[in-house]
Amino acid sequence: MSIIEKAANRFEQAKGEITRPLKITPEPRSSGEQSSNIISGEQSSKIINEHNTRNPDRQMIAQADINLARLHQLGMITPDQGKTLAAQEFRGIKRSLIQNAFIKGAGAIHHGNLIMVTSSLPREGKTFCAINLAMSIATEMDHTVLLVDADVARPSVLRTLGLKSAVGLMDILLDEKLDLADVMIKTNVDTLRILPAGTSHRHATELLASQAMSSLLNEIANRYPDRIVIFDSPPLLPTTEARVLASQMGQIVMVVEAETTTQHAVKEALRQIETNSHINLVYNKAKAFPGGTNYGYGYYD
Ligand SMILES: Nc1ncnc2c1ncn2[C@@H]1O[C@H](COP(=O)(O)OP(=O)(O)OP(=O)(O)O)[C@@H](O)[C@H]1O
Ligand SMILES: [Mg+2]
Repeated sequence: MSIIEKAANRFEQAKGEITRPLKITPEPRSSGEQSSNIISGEQSSKIINEHNTRNPDRQMIAQADINLARLHQLGMITPDQGKTLAAQEFRGIKRSLIQNAFIKGAGAIHHGNLIMVTSSLPREGKTFCAINLAMSIATEMDHTVLLVDADVARPSVLRTLGLKSAVGLMDILLDEKLDLADVMIKTNVDTLRILPAGTSHRHATELLASQAMSSLLNEIANRYPDRIVIFDSPPLLPTTEARVLASQMGQIVMVVEAETTTQHAVKEALRQIETNSHINLVYNKAKAFPGGTNYGYGYYD
């Protein structure tokens, strides 16, 4: 029995509810987006211009082009690259996440469309998986996706996508005049939007645990109920931010780095998020088949 199997079994015995790990190895605009509390394009441009004039160091960006060629070079999913290994693997991963996100009625998962990607330790592949998952869901016309960089201490989503840093999550939490719609970046992938981490703040953990953050998450989950929201997050063991975030998410994807993360680390991380009953393990960077690439994805099954 592998390390992950043992950890997951233990967790399952304790809780009896862990979701089986995921196998790794145009949408119309959300109807909610046109609701009355969304400002018009003209108003939005005005707010953005005023903000950027006042804050030359903290720019607000309405629209940006993801460097898709660079992403492709990094082995990540891009539109129109249908048959890559990554595309196939993430197709499998997203299926149950999407299903869970939209269960209606008695079995509905609270905030099921809010999906956090985390890991036990740094560098296991959270950002890689979060972007691939977001891109897979967005480009296969399943749903509109909002990719949130919630790794506020060490944000890397914008950099990985080849974009400049911008105002985002931390700024909305700190400035009540800023609205989510002001700081979300539209991209050249029509169905994908990005909420950057924003300006770094020494009280980031407290801000993530704040009432303002709970309200924002409620707003995101309810304002855009047919949108999948993926949160790239910090690792669980060295930070408290990840635990705070996990407590407010509908589903969690926990990335486990093949042949590196110890059983102890996986167990400890699972213990920290055991109040969430929808946890999926993704086995990342598994050695692929002989002759294949050095990276791959694997699930615990
Ligand atoms: N399956 C994979 N195949 C190829 N490269 C990968 C894979 N997963 C991760 N990587 C690479 O490993 C490195 C670390 O990945 P990534 O930045 O996604 O980790 P992270 O968990 O987000 O790190 P941090 O804790 O610093 O935020 C990156 O260079 C990334 O491109
Ligand atoms: Mg990261």
